Amino acid sequence: MSHEPASASASSAASGHAVIEPLPSPLHGAATVPGDKSISHRAVLFSAMAEGTSRVSGVLDSEDVRSSIAAVGKLGAQVSLEKQPDGSLAGGITGWGAAGPKKPDGPIDCGNSGTTARLLMGVLAPWDVPVEITGDESLQRRPMRRITAPLMKMGARFEPGGRETLPVTEVGTRDLRAITYDAPMASAQLKTAVLLAGVYARGTTTLNEPSPSRNHTELMLPEFGVPTTAADRTASVTGPRTLQAAEVRVPGDPSSAAFLVCAAVLKAGSSIQVENVSLNTARIGFTRTLERMGADVSVRHAGAAGKEPYGIISACHTPNLHGCEVPAEKIATIVDEVPVLALVAAFARGVTVFREVGELRVKETDRLAAVVEGLELMGVEAYIDGNDLYVEGQPGLRVPEGVTFDSKGDHRLAMTWALAGLTGAVPVTVENFDSVKISYPRFLNDIERLAR
Ligand code: S3P
Repeated sequence: MSHEPASASASSAASGHAVIEPLPSPLHGAATVPGDKSISHRAVLFSAMAEGTSRVSGVLDSEDVRSSIAAVGKLGAQVSLEKQPDGSLAGGITGWGAAGPKKPDGPIDCGNSGTTARLLMGVLAPWDVPVEITGDESLQRRPMRRITAPLMKMGARFEPGGRETLPVTEVGTRDLRAITYDAPMASAQLKTAVLLAGVYARGTTTLNEPSPSRNHTELMLPEFGVPTTAADRTASVTGPRTLQAAEVRVPGDPSSAAFLVCAAVLKAGSSIQVENVSLNTARIGFTRTLERMGADVSVRHAGAAGKEPYGIISACHTPNLHGCEVPAEKIATIVDEVPVLALVAAFARGVTVFREVGELRVKETDRLAAVVEGLELMGVEAYIDGNDLYVEGQPGLRVPEGVTFDSKGDHRLAMTWALAGLTGAVPVTVENFDSVKISYPRFLNDIERLAR
C-alpha cells in the first residue's frame, strides 16, 4: 500500500489525528479523482471468478480495494497489477474459472471492507470449499445476516449457525438453488452477493429491492459474458454460467468527487471541474441534492467505460444555499454522501431533511449519530426523528475555534470533518484522519492542489 506524502495543511501525529488548516485560496481548475471503489471491487472479484485473464485499468489503490485483491489472491487467482503514474492499478487477473477457488491457508481478512466481505460470500457460495471470513473491529460489528439469509436459502451454509456478524466460515455447494428474493433494504452489496451466487445456480435468480441501489454488477456481468436482466428495483441472472475474462476500465469515483464538489460549493470564489468521473445515476444523487439546495453544480457526459457512463462534474461557490428534503426513495443514490451533504446543509438557510436514512447506522460506524455529534460541535442543531435526519442550517455559520472532530476511523466522516476546516476560517482537528486511506488516500493533496 502506498501513501501520499503528508500534506502541508495537516500535521499528523502518531495517533493519526490531523490538524486541518483552512485552504489559502478558492478552489479552481480541473481535477481527477481515483477510480471508483465499488467498480474496482467488482472488477477484481469478477476477474477472479472468470475463466482466462482479464485486463483491468483505473483500479483504485486504497485499503478497501487491497482487501479484495488480497482475498482473491489467497483463493487462487493470479493478480499482477502495477501502480500507474496516475496512482491507479492496472494489469492482468487470471481467474479460477470453472475449476473454482482453492482452499485458502487461513482466514480471509477483509479489513474494513464491507464490500469485500459481503460480495465474497456470493462469490464463494457455489464452491464446497470452507472459507473463514473476518475483518477489523468495525467490520466485525456490521450486520451480515442480510447476506447469509438469502445465500442459505440457495443452499450455502455458514458456521457457527445463527451468527449475525463476522467471523463466519462459509461452506458453499455446487448444487445452489435459484431463488426470487425480496430484499428488506436497498443494498447493492446484498443484491450483488445474491446475483453472483445466482450465476452458478440452475434457473433464474431474481432480486427485488425496495428502491434502486447502485447497479454496477448488472452493468458489468454482461461484460463477463453473463446476460443480466435489470429494471427498476429488480435484477435477474440465469445460470449456471461461467464468467469469461473481460476488459474493465474503472472511471473516477463520484463519492470521492463529492468531497471536492462540496468544498467548492462552500469555499468563497471557487469554481472547479472534476473530470473522468462516473456519472452513473445511481451514484450521483448528491449533485441533485446540491441542486435542490440551490448550489451551482452541473454534470456533462463525455462517454462510457463499458456500460458505465462518465463525464465532468462542475461546481462553483454558492453563497445562498437553502435547505431541502431528500425523499426516502432517493437515499440509495446518496447513501455514502449523506454526511458531507449534511455538512453543506449546515450552511444553508432553513431545514434539510434526509428521509429514511436508518442504513447509516450500520456503515463503517454509526454515521447518523456521528453526523449529529459533529454538527453539534459546530453549534448546529441536528437531530434524528425515527429514521429521518434533520439539519437546521445557519447561513453565515462559522466553525468555532478549537474543535476536535472524531472520525471514529470512518473514512467518509474523516473527509467530511476535514472540509469544515478546509473551507472555514480556523483550523480543526480530526481524530483518526488517516482512515481516508480506505477510499481516497490522496484526498488532501487533491484538494490542496485545487487551492493553489
Ligand atoms: C456498496 C454499496 C453500498 C455503499 C458501499 C459500497 C457497493 O452499501 O454504502 O460503500 O459497492 O455495493 P450497501 O450495499 O450496504 O447499501
